[in-house]
Formats: sequence, structure tokens, C-alpha cells
Amino acid sequence: ILNNIQELPGDALFAIKQRLAEDPRSAKVDLGIGAYRDEDGKPWVLPAVRKAETLIHSDASFNHEYLGIAGLPALTSGAAKVILGDDSSALAEKRVVSAQSLSGTGALHIAAKFIQKFLPGKLLYVSDPTWANHVSIFESQGVKTATYPYWDAATKSLDLEGFIKAIESSPRGSVFLLHACAHNPTGLDPTEAQWEKILSACVKNDIIPLFDSAYQGFASGSLTNDAFAVRLGVKKFAESAPIFICQSFAKNVGMYGERCGCIHLIVPRQESNVNVSTITKAVASQISKITRSEVSNPPAYGAKIVAKILNNAELTEQWHKDMVTMSQRITKMRHSLRDKLLELQTPGNWDHIVNQCGMFSYTGLTKPMVERLEKEHGVYMVASGRASIAGLNEKNVEHVAKAINEVVRH
Ligand code: LMR
Repeated sequence: ILNNIQELPGDALFAIKQRLAEDPRSAKVDLGIGAYRDEDGKPWVLPAVRKAETLIHSDASFNHEYLGIAGLPALTSGAAKVILGDDSSALAEKRVVSAQSLSGTGALHIAAKFIQKFLPGKLLYVSDPTWANHVSIFESQGVKTATYPYWDAATKSLDLEGFIKAIESSPRGSVFLLHACAHNPTGLDPTEAQWEKILSACVKNDIIPLFDSAYQGFASGSLTNDAFAVRLGVKKFAESAPIFICQSFAKNVGMYGERCGCIHLIVPRQESNVNVSTITKAVASQISKITRSEVSNPPAYGAKIVAKILNNAELTEQWHKDMVTMSQRITKMRHSLRDKLLELQTPGNWDHIVNQCGMFSYTGLTKPMVERLEKEHGVYMVASGRASIAGLNEKNVEHVAKAINEVVRH
């Protein structure tokens, strides 16, 4: 019965983790998976998380009961405010449906199921390039995908013209997956003026935006700055189309393995006689049906920690500091790597490393160069040339710069 099942190659990103674990070299460097590392190259439990855990465990009523199907209300309401802003008119007008998900991937999965069921036949556009998992999440639910130009390899900058043309030539009502900030894999975000143009073109062409917000607070250290595109989109689409937001707390709370996230669907103001509350209730019930049939109810532990952080002023303040700590260290390492490449007079221009933001740099290194970096120097990154800058620290940056210099020259 099982004889015809073919073995698939392993996931490329997680395979890097595996090879790295098996590599006996002491000077190996992990620039693969997008997970924050501290100055010693170790995973970092945020001080805000430690404090939240202490509070949770000292609460005599703490238990491991099921959450409701839509998740922990203190999480979903706090999360909506984080992404939309305390003063959001969408929140004031009760046009937001929020549900807990298995981190950002789970939110994308719910969005994919929802689109497949209620917006059948819609094409979903992803940036070229995009996070490796996007296409498989949507295609596995029968949502067809296409790409829009994003990264201009020659100039290492945004192909804004190609992006806008793709919006204009897409079938009416298509869904565009937009990276809210800290674009994965390129680290290249549109400027505020470019977002204005992109989102205006989306409104004009009846696009449905789907924001993937996996790095809020990571790009600039500020939740508000990193929510610029989402909040502008919510304003611009208030009268026209729904907006999906898939929100992850894996990176900005450092809760990678706890799978804590949310999906928010913003319902536009209604001109017809179906009122907003009827629609939000219907949408919420359908999202609950998806969750119930797949995971029954979402995981509680990470949700309780994040909810504690979002609803306790002292912890929220600590969290904001923690995000600044992470984003500043990454920015510092970007400069350090660029400066060392300049000192070594490595052929090429390396300014893009400091101009990009968030966890990643799209270095421009070719696949053969990346292979040699791994084999000969123990420096691991994704075959596309994406490097997780969070893996750099004062102790290994010189080794990495010398390794890059060597593979670029020979
Ligand atoms: C990454 O791109 O490295 C992260 O988002 C981890 C993942 O799950 O792919």
C-alpha cells in the first residue's frame, strides 16, 4: 500500500541546522535559520519573558486547561493593539476579527484555508523572492500563487516599477502577500513613500492585501515604525476590501518554539445593508471552525506569556527595551561585517549589508560561494545568499569577513 510513496528531500533551512549540529569544527558559524542569538552566539530568553514566567508560575490559579478555540482573549486583544495601534479606528469601529494561531505559519495557514473556501479562484501573489515556506503553505490548500518583482539583483534595491506593474496587471481581486517589515529573505523594505505608492496601486486595482508581520520591532526596534505599512493599509482599505494580517510572536518575543501568533481580519466599512457585526461574527465562526478541525484549540503556554507581557505596563516596557537590544546588536554587526569587508578590500560594494534591516541580509553571494563558505570555512547560510545577521558576534565576525573575502576572490 505504501510502496509508491516517494521520499522528499529534507527542508533546506532545517537541513542547515542539522549539518551545523554535526559539524565538529569549533569555528563554525550559524547564519542560517532566522533566530536571534546573543553576543555569545546563544539563544536569548528575553528578560521580559523571564519576568512574565515568574509571574505566571507564582499565580496559584495557573493551570494547563484548554484555551477557547479562538485562543486567549488577553492575547488576541493585546496583539491587535500591537499591530493596529491603540488609536486604531478599525478597532474602535469593531471591524477586527482576531484569533490565535500556531505562530505566523499557522496564521498563514488559516488565511490560506479561508481564501480557498471563501475567495475561491483568487491568485495569491508573493514577492520574488519570498520566505521559502509561503508558496507551500498556500499551494497545499489549493490556492494558486504567482510572483511580483521585488528585488533588483543588479542594483540590490527595490524594483518598485515592476512591483506596481504587477499590481496593475494582476486579475482584479487578487491577493498580494506583503511583508509588513524586515522582508525575508532580502532585508530590504520599501520606504514610507514607496509604501504609499504600492498601497494606493493596490486600492486602485481592487487588491486584497495580506500582511505577513513576523518581525515587528525587529527592523527598527520600534513597534510603531515597523507597523507603518500595515496601519497605512488599514486606513487606505477602510472603505474597500478586507485585509488579512498574519502576526507572529516568534521573533519579537523570542518564543520560537512556543508557536504563538494571531490572525486578524479587518472588515471594511459597509455600504450595503449587511452590518459589520454580522460579518465579523460570521468570519470569526468560520475561523474557529478551521482551528477546531485542525488543532482543536491553540497552545496555551506561550500565549499566556505574551499576554502577560502585553497587559502589564512594566513588562511591556521591558519588552520594548529587549527589542531595542536585539535590533541594535544586529545593526552593530551589520556595520562590523561591512567595515571588515572594506578593510579587506573585498571586491564589490557591501553597503547593502548596512542598508538592509531586520534579521537578514541578502548578501549577493552566489550558490557556489555559499557552498564553499560552508565546506571550507564552516560558515553556514542559505543557498540564496541570505545570511541571518543575528548569528554574527564580536568573536566570529572577523572569521566570517575573511571567509567571504576568500570565496569572493577565488
Ligand atoms: C527563517 O526564515 O529562517 C525563519 O522564518 C524560520 C523558518 O521557519 O523558516
